Amino acid sequence: MRDKAKGIFELPHDRVECEVQAPCLLTEAAVRAGVILNVACGGKGTCGGCAVDLLGGRFAADGGAEIALPAGAARRVLSCQTHVLAGEFHVRVPRHSLVEAGEEIVMDFAHAPSVSLRPPVRKEYLRLRPPELRDQRGDIERIIGALRRRGYAGEIIAPHAAARSAGLVARAAYKLTVTVVGDHGAWHIIRLEEGDTTGCLYGAAVDVGTTTVVVTLVDLNTGKAVDAASSYNQQIIRCDDVASRISYASDPQRAQELRELVVDGTVNRLLRLLTHRHGLAGDDVAHMTVAGNTVMTHLFCGLSPTGLGAVPFAPISNFPGPYRAGLLNVAINAQAFVDIFPSAAAYVGGDATADMYVCGLARRDELNVLIDIGTNAEIVVGNRDRLIACAAPAGPAFEGHGLSCGMRAAAGAIESFRLGGLSDPPRYTVIGGDKPAGVCGSGLIDFVAQAFAVGVISSAGRFTDRARARCPRIRKLRRNEAEIPAYEIAPAEQTDDGLAPILITERDIATLLQAKGVIYAALQMAMKHFGKGFADIHRFYLAGGFAKHIDPDNAVTMGLLPDIDRGKFTFLGNGSLGGAFLALIDEDVRRELPHLAAAPAVIELNLDPEFMDAYTLAMFLPNGDPSLFPTVKPAK
Ligand code: FES
Repeated sequence: MRDKAKGIFELPHDRVECEVQAPCLLTEAAVRAGVILNVACGGKGTCGGCAVDLLGGRFAADGGAEIALPAGAARRVLSCQTHVLAGEFHVRVPRHSLVEAGEEIVMDFAHAPSVSLRPPVRKEYLRLRPPELRDQRGDIERIIGALRRRGYAGEIIAPHAAARSAGLVARAAYKLTVTVVGDHGAWHIIRLEEGDTTGCLYGAAVDVGTTTVVVTLVDLNTGKAVDAASSYNQQIIRCDDVASRISYASDPQRAQELRELVVDGTVNRLLRLLTHRHGLAGDDVAHMTVAGNTVMTHLFCGLSPTGLGAVPFAPISNFPGPYRAGLLNVAINAQAFVDIFPSAAAYVGGDATADMYVCGLARRDELNVLIDIGTNAEIVVGNRDRLIACAAPAGPAFEGHGLSCGMRAAAGAIESFRLGGLSDPPRYTVIGGDKPAGVCGSGLIDFVAQAFAVGVISSAGRFTDRARARCPRIRKLRRNEAEIPAYEIAPAEQTDDGLAPILITERDIATLLQAKGVIYAALQMAMKHFGKGFADIHRFYLAGGFAKHIDPDNAVTMGLLPDIDRGKFTFLGNGSLGGAFLALIDEDVRRELPHLAAAPAVIELNLDPEFMDAYTLAMFLPNGDPSLFPTVKPAK
């Protein structure tokens, strides 16, 4: 007989309670309490993201041994490796272990090209001639005949569900509204309604990100986005990044759990919120478009992502769907089509296809570059004649993972950082304006660039002798008998929890240099395969939420972005959502997507013998080949 455990999770600005059957993993208890912990490694105990402080109660380590709590003091543990035992418990969650709702979500897509209002879904109000002895056609044939007279050519298909609802035709005195969707030259009847409801026709554009999901409700009569809502992808309660989700989903039951978390736990919740806000029924939403990376779209559709986890990174399909909403359990009209954005390759996903459409990469004569930086940076270079794509496995460092003080771009994150001189105190800004809890990607880029520019760190990413002698912020940490030099951005008393300072170690810097090295070398390889140099770039598009916060000058100084005219860097906003929106309102966009996804020649970086050399040089600041960065001068 298992006993109950009743406990409190102390959050930075709140406290929540829960009751669970003991013994229970602390991460599981947190889920019950609605606390979203940073479980980057999926509970393997390797990322350190789920650290919490045990304040009271009985707990056991993974092996079963009870954990002794020091009297009157907290004990820090990994919640994925700790079980709560029966009785009452009390746990404090530091801010950096929390995936907080304060994360900034980019929902604009200002650079989307203007398109025509030509949605693939339409409504027709029909006044049918009632049957009589001389005209004994069925109701469905009567509807098809009326649609033909309206100019609907090609096959017109009435699925079983439409035929079953045809009983309303007589009830409606033969005055009804028919919703049809065009697909591959055929028209599918997806809804019959009494009377004239042509004024009510909606679609949903969805950006399924690994971290966040955004749903935009679109009025298909006007082509306007009427409302949007976003939330964390609830899969995050199980595991954080793409790699750990692939591994979690290797068990079919767990894959189903991830599917339910994203479809029912996230997208359907947002859909219900939006339809409720606008007095609509789920059935009023007659079309959905979904853009996301290949792993996310596989999980959304219930396709196994296992093949994406190992060489040769084979997806089930790069062009899944369209599927009927009922098949995917999406809370819109069950007969509606759900279009999934096609991918160019396993790691150049539907989100990159959407980005490509929005920035018009394949429509321009000039050479443009697109980059979407996440755990994998998706890169596409080219023009209307030719496109080259690749995925750079940068790792999650720019998302704040694997670093002593890294965190997402959420409340409490240092987002920008300035250093006036070697021994000057740093200046920084914090998202939300409160005390800092960690440093997010843009702050980390600023730190490395500024520390290099004033001579705190060398080209190899080491603290310089001069800085060790003169910079009061450089301290020595003792870890496992070794002394590790670190730069103190904020002392403990100035931080959010007041317990630990915010530090950047040489190892953190090395991790960041590896990440930026992979991205820059991948950019070089893509340009080489295209046969052009960085000087030939007309425009350099930066997509995604992270890109929005980057200071281009610092990103160049760090050697992450190429040393080109800074005015060429263009922030695309949420290209994934923008593409999904455009495909909803213009059937030409929807038709073009498979061609666009198939257009890039995808290069495999590991097969290019020059990649490793380029990567090795790119791990220096700004680069082992300084001629590539003529405007970046090291400190004197
Ligand atoms: Fe617990 Fe990674 S260490 S989730």
